[in-house]
Amino acid sequence: MREELEVVMSGIPFHHHNNVDNQSSKKKNKRKRKKVEEEEEKEIVKKEKSTVSIAVAASIIDNTQSLELATRLAGQVARAATIFCIDEVVVFDNQATPDDDSIPTVMKNGNEDESSAHFLVRILRYLDTPQYLRRRLFPMHKSLRFVGLLPPLDAPHHVRKHEWSLYREGVTLDESCAEGTLVDVGLSKNVVVEQVIEPGKRVTVAMGTNRNIGTACLRKVVSPSSPKEEMGMYRGYKVRYASSLSTVFNSSPFKGGYDHIIGTSEHGHVINSSELVIPSFRHLLIAFGGLGGLEESIEEDSNLKGKRVYDVFSAYLNTCPHQGSRTIRTEEAILISLQYFQDPIMRAEQQSKRK
Ligand SMILES: C[S@@+](CC[C@H](N)C(=O)[O-])C[C@H]1O[C@@H](n2cnc3c(N)ncnc32)[C@H](O)[C@@H]1O
Repeated sequence: MREELEVVMSGIPFHHHNNVDNQSSKKKNKRKRKKVEEEEEKEIVKKEKSTVSIAVAASIIDNTQSLELATRLAGQVARAATIFCIDEVVVFDNQATPDDDSIPTVMKNGNEDESSAHFLVRILRYLDTPQYLRRRLFPMHKSLRFVGLLPPLDAPHHVRKHEWSLYREGVTLDESCAEGTLVDVGLSKNVVVEQVIEPGKRVTVAMGTNRNIGTACLRKVVSPSSPKEEMGMYRGYKVRYASSLSTVFNSSPFKGGYDHIIGTSEHGHVINSSELVIPSFRHLLIAFGGLGGLEESIEEDSNLKGKRVYDVFSAYLNTCPHQGSRTIRTEEAILISLQYFQDPIMRAEQQSKRK
């Protein structure tokens, strides 16, 4: 019995010693792995370019008197977003149930028109799409009747047939191809990418420097953010629908969400643009209200009950303090404000590069 005990007793420390070794090497490995993960995360963050998003109330479309005027208004938002290199436009509703991010398709006023949000999202997406892809990606729709009247966005990713660009937007085709997938990138011939992708998908193709178009040279589909991350090229805006102001913030597509959110209003703080300090950011969001302003959007949002503008926004700013007209319309405020924010944003971006 005593012997047995001794064996057991002596076994314990021995075994325990082994355990300690195993545990400490496990801990070391875990720490190493965590460090590698942290380094990788830092690299991703370094590579990931900062983004600027705008949120626009869908209700601005409600106040237009005809489909043509609604189309022109949507076109103005698209032009402003492109001129100021906005990465994301979020179209938000006021009354829809928060947390439901499907665009309401209910017909308005008993006629065949789609909802204001649906309409604005459609026109914004259509305009951002290179002309040569529109026919394939946008089936005929009543809402698109007047888009032909709009001035083009002329964005860098709207590459012309005879131009060479390191990246081209394309759509995958339904024709068989042994090497990979055929893609229409708006050149006189389709190109082949090495990946096998289902037909009808919008893709970003790295064209490289080999200008021999056709099927001889294999190209690659890359992430849509690659041109910006690798070359700093502006590639247009993404469009997202949010059912309420709070879902604009809570359903951000960016990891970690928006880190600085600015609201705009004639009731906001007056600060000279040259004195405005925007802290260095990864994902900035600037919000624009509808006829009732952002204060109304907060009041009507059940997720923001009891909140005031300063609880919701990091800053609430009046970007046009000496206005002669009693009201500045949202489409005007977007242009005025994005010009006002341009230098402060550039200063913030330069500061984060220095870090
Ligand atoms: C017709 S205005 C709404 C009027 C409202 N009283 C307000 O809060 O400004 C529509 C939107 O234009 C923008 N806006 C209007 N005047 C502005 C100003 N002076 N400075 C910044 N944004 C303004 C705001 O985003 C506002 O929600």
